[in-house]
Amino acid sequence: MPPRLIAVSNRIPTGSPSSGGLVVALRDALSASGGLWIGAHPDPGTGLEEMEEVSGGGCRCLAFRLSEEEISDYYLGYANSVLWPLCHRRVDLVEMPSTYEERYRAVNARVAKLIAQVARPDDLIWVHDYHFFPLASELRALGLANRIGFFLHIPFPSLGDLSVLSQPEDFADWLADYNLLGLQTRGDVARCLEMYRADPRAEFMPDGTVKMQGRITSVRSFPIGIDVDHFRELAGVGGRNPFGREAPDGFVIGVDRLDYSKGIPNRFRAFGRYLKTRPEGTRPCLVQIAPPTRERVQAYQDITSELEEIAGRLNGAFAELDWTPIRYIHRSIDRSVLARLHRMARACAVTSLADGMNLVAKEFVAAQDPEDPGVLILSRFAGAAEDMTEALLVNPYDIEEMAAAIHQALEMPLDERRARHAACMEVVRRTDATRWAAQFLAALRTCMPTLSPQVAR
Ligand code: ADP
Ligand code: G6P
Repeated sequence: MPPRLIAVSNRIPTGSPSSGGLVVALRDALSASGGLWIGAHPDPGTGLEEMEEVSGGGCRCLAFRLSEEEISDYYLGYANSVLWPLCHRRVDLVEMPSTYEERYRAVNARVAKLIAQVARPDDLIWVHDYHFFPLASELRALGLANRIGFFLHIPFPSLGDLSVLSQPEDFADWLADYNLLGLQTRGDVARCLEMYRADPRAEFMPDGTVKMQGRITSVRSFPIGIDVDHFRELAGVGGRNPFGREAPDGFVIGVDRLDYSKGIPNRFRAFGRYLKTRPEGTRPCLVQIAPPTRERVQAYQDITSELEEIAGRLNGAFAELDWTPIRYIHRSIDRSVLARLHRMARACAVTSLADGMNLVAKEFVAAQDPEDPGVLILSRFAGAAEDMTEALLVNPYDIEEMAAAIHQALEMPLDERRARHAACMEVVRRTDATRWAAQFLAALRTCMPTLSPQVAR
């Protein structure tokens, strides 16, 4: 029996079993070790409750409740109005009233206490994402010497952007309490090491680890992936046509949370540019599924209005009575419908201005018929572009280049589509979700243990 795993993430699977890559990968690892998944309850509370069991994702989940103030200051505030824009190169969107950081630190301290109540000395603890950077420091302060790993799902920030934080040196310090720091790409690792190089407290050890005031951290990339076979099954032939009788015969698909990091306005503008110059007689269509996210944050309200305005303007200019070029759905849709849409699309546009990995890119590739595949248009600023070099890589700031890529994708000869798809599919399989979790956990198990958790700094 492997050591028990405790996974911690702000969002946990609740309700019906989810088929997202993270859930699948962690569910397998958790059930193999009889482990636990700890995260925030979907409903608010007083912030004083003990943890409670919730059902979800096919594994044992324990949830803590966040008070309304914690949701405002820790989740919407410090996590999503400071750290998210900072890591996605949008420091112009950072808002930092002091209550955000205070509450972020307080929630991390409280969650650490709750974890300490259930953790056993030989458990592996795997913390996920930017909501919990300081969690290991809080756990060490409580005396936990367990091996603790951290995986950052979003881009690692640049050194320059980190200086926006009120105490940038605390950021490196928080990370130093993890035994293993997992990042999406080699580019993220390079940015993280740049941060340590600029910090006089950090030393580089001959084995590549970083030592900071007695604490040793290994920094490596583990590109995340999806449950490939499951998604292929969902996308498989025989399912219902999601359009009913009237399916567009060739369309470009976009699927993203409506987040400013996804570059959706520029995607629409590029599609508009393509519409102007499209081959005569064609009636191309962009199907954009963009469910709302973090709606109480101003920057998300702004992007929603911007997108509605662009979609309205383009449809106004180009639509005909029997043709709507942009079909924009501002809702979440069933994953099996999503998978079918990917399969039917001639191209997928992923145009992130910054993105940790972008699982949609991998889902689109997995869903294709290898004999007659669609083409992935992929921003070079998405983590997926580091390995999926045979996608049509684009600069999402360059509208003309993206319009040309849409044209190239829709006109691409079958042989080239097959060759590009096969190369991308090889990456999708090589980096699937199960392997991602197994490789991270194998690396965590071999990390040097923390000898004195409350090391004097
Ligand atoms: P992010 O984690 O920033 O949202 P990713 O592309 O890495 O971006 O992952 C998004 C996940 O959410 C994918 O698995 C995708 O299929 C799913 N998803 C995105 N939009 C929808 C939607 N409208 N309905 C259902 N699932 C969605
Ligand atoms: C990204 C983040 C996750 C987050 C998800 C959805 O994938 O890396 O940590 O859970 O977006 O965002 P939300 O704010 O709805 O949890």
